This record gives sequence, structure tokens and C-alpha cells, in this order.
Amino acid sequence: MTQQQIFDTAEADFLFATPLARFTVKDHERLDKALLAEGARLRAIDEGVQKSNRGGWHSEGNIFDNPADCIQELRALATSAIHDLTRNISSKVDPAKLTMKLSGWMNANPMGGFNAPHTHPGAHWSGVYYVNQPDVEEGNSGMIEFLDPRSDLPNWRILRADAFRLKKKIRPRAGEIVLFPSYLMHWVYPNESSEERVTIAFNATFRKPRKKKG
Ligand SMILES: [Fe+2]
Repeated sequence: MTQQQIFDTAEADFLFATPLARFTVKDHERLDKALLAEGARLRAIDEGVQKSNRGGWHSEGNIFDNPADCIQELRALATSAIHDLTRNISSKVDPAKLTMKLSGWMNANPMGGFNAPHTHPGAHWSGVYYVNQPDVEEGNSGMIEFLDPRSDLPNWRILRADAFRLKKKIRPRAGEIVLFPSYLMHWVYPNESSEERVTIAFNATFRKPRKKKG
């Protein structure tokens, strides 16, 4: 006897999905080269700060306040990706009509450098642009791993269901923007290469535009 013969109806909703989006920038090599040069210039004048990074350099302040062409180009690309994903998950709001604060910083991870697990509280979307990602033959070097925010999932491991996997790791390539909700816990595996991994991470926070007086 099939399900259809037992039940009048049978349906299932999949609730509480978490989007993870990836965009590859066209002809990104020129942009990456310019960003690396600008990063080298910034590092000569900015000691950097300690955040989730362990080892390496994390630029101070909002990198998108920097008027350099390459930084402003990335700002426009990140904004387009954020608008695209926002429209993908909601047809009820035009993100271009909201006020969006975009703040970003550059990370340079040398060999052994990694980022401890963290979220980006207070923002809506968080993203990472990969400026340089060393090639690796095998292992987890350079991977970013996302951890499922739902509790009690280890109990579900026996069912081997994709919808209930505990974590998901990816190794983005240079030229990729990875975008995810800011509540999503993530961390970065240590760089095992002698070449630096360079990324620009950012947070986007929306608010309703202020009504004009009068
Ligand atoms: Fe992060």
C-alpha cells in the first residue's frame, strides 16, 4: 500500500532555511591585483586590530571609507550581490529603497593564521570577498565552515539528512563573494600555505530611510 492510499493528503514544509550565496566577479584578476596593492599600502600605515583573527592582519576602521577606486569598485559589487540575494529571499521589499550601512575590513592570513568561530551580531548580511586564495592540493586549508544554528541536531545524524547537516565547509576561489546571514556561526581553517590568504569581509545592515521633514 502506498502513502497515497493511506492518507488523503501528505505534504511537508521546509522551515527556517539559511541561504548561502556565492557570486564570481567577472574579470576579477585586475581588481584583485589593485586590492592587493592597496592592502600593502594600508598595512604600511595601519598596524591592524585583533578581532576573530588569530595571527595575520585585520585592517582598522571601515575600509569602504577609503576612496581608492578598487575599494569603491568592491563596495559596488558587494552592494549588488547583497541586493540580489535580498530580492531572492523577499519579494516584499526593494533593498535599494532601504538605507544600507556597509562596513568592511581586510584580513591577511599568513601560514597558520585562522579565524575563530564567530557571528556578526546586529547586521543582516555578512560576506567575504576572496582577493587571494592560495592553491592547495588537499586538506582544509583556506576553507570557511558554517555551523548550523539549530540546537539538538547531533541526534539527527543517524538519518543522514542534508537538511539537518551540522556544518558545511567550502573553499571559495579568488574573485568570489560569499554571502550569508550574519547570525550564522562560521570560522576559517588555518592557512597551511606559505602564501597569504587575503580577504575583505563586510557587514550590511538595513534600516528604513528617515522620512523627510516638511
Ligand atoms: Fe566572519
